[in-house]
Amino acid sequence: MQELTELVESAQRDFAQAEQPAALEDAKARYIGKTGRITMLMKELGKLPAEERRARGQQINSAKQQIEAALNARREQLAEAALAKKLESEAIDVTLPGRLRSEGGIHPVMRTWMRIEEIFRSIGFDVADGPEIENDWFSFTSLGNPPDHPARSMQDTFYVDRNDDDGRPLPLRPHTSPMQVRYARTHEPPIKVIAPGRTYRVDSDATHSPMFHQVEGLWIGENVSFTDLKGVYSDFLRCFFETNDLVVRFRPSYFPFTEPSVEVDMMFTSGARKGKWLEISGAGEVHPNVVRNFGLDPEKYMGFAFGSGLERLTMLRYGIDDLRLFFEGDLRFLRQFN
Ligand code: DAH
Repeated sequence: MQELTELVESAQRDFAQAEQPAALEDAKARYIGKTGRITMLMKELGKLPAEERRARGQQINSAKQQIEAALNARREQLAEAALAKKLESEAIDVTLPGRLRSEGGIHPVMRTWMRIEEIFRSIGFDVADGPEIENDWFSFTSLGNPPDHPARSMQDTFYVDRNDDDGRPLPLRPHTSPMQVRYARTHEPPIKVIAPGRTYRVDSDATHSPMFHQVEGLWIGENVSFTDLKGVYSDFLRCFFETNDLVVRFRPSYFPFTEPSVEVDMMFTSGARKGKWLEISGAGEVHPNVVRNFGLDPEKYMGFAFGSGLERLTMLRYGIDDLRLFFEGDLRFLRQFN
């Protein structure tokens, strides 16, 4: 009897000391496993005289039940402890503010870009894309602006630290006009294309940024005249600004790749900005030498080109007066467009 009491106590101690379920099961095996001490005592019962067997059997059974009870209690304790630990490690503070997934939006200059594509597509223009690291010939020479010509200084620009095949440093394109030549040399007339994209110049103030966007336009056919330029560009402005209340004027100017060359101005005839001329774009009839560089006969083909600044158009459309706002990434500004 004494021996059984000690056995139960010993089992209780062992169980209490087991910190892990595996250790607990090992301890269990020592008492009530196949070769456990209680099990062995049960097996020895058969050796006892019949009159002692019953009482002894009851004692052993009772000890076994106590051990099982201690085992189950400890199992539960360990499971609870494990759960508590898990909960603690995965604890979430439901009072913390949620992690908001903020929605992206479209940059106002991109809106202008998309809008221009839509308008020109609707009148049959293709949309082309070209390299921002351009070579010297496409950037300047093919556009009537040979090396050392003073007109080059109009677009003093950035260069990459590498030369093109002619040994001239590669510029970051200062305008999208090279796309006129690239596109025309790989397409058959009639050619109707716009080429929006990034451009680069050494310029930085409230209305100029070293990186900015332009859209080039080109329409070349057998008889595309200055009148067509006036019609197409005026219509474009009315679509873009969603108003018929504007007038457009074509002011003589100079570009090496157009003759005649103009600067396009527009004026709102109603609303807050009524009555002020605003410079909007360069344009002109493509110079015969440039048509030749297209690989076309200038006696047969003629047409117009224009190059407009997307930031400028965006500023006028939304009444923004500092172009640097476009590049600062301030959400308070950008959110207003989405
Ligand atoms: N490339 C000129 C610039 O960046 C803009 C321009 C003027 C483009 C006249 C044209 C054009 O296509 O015909 O200043």
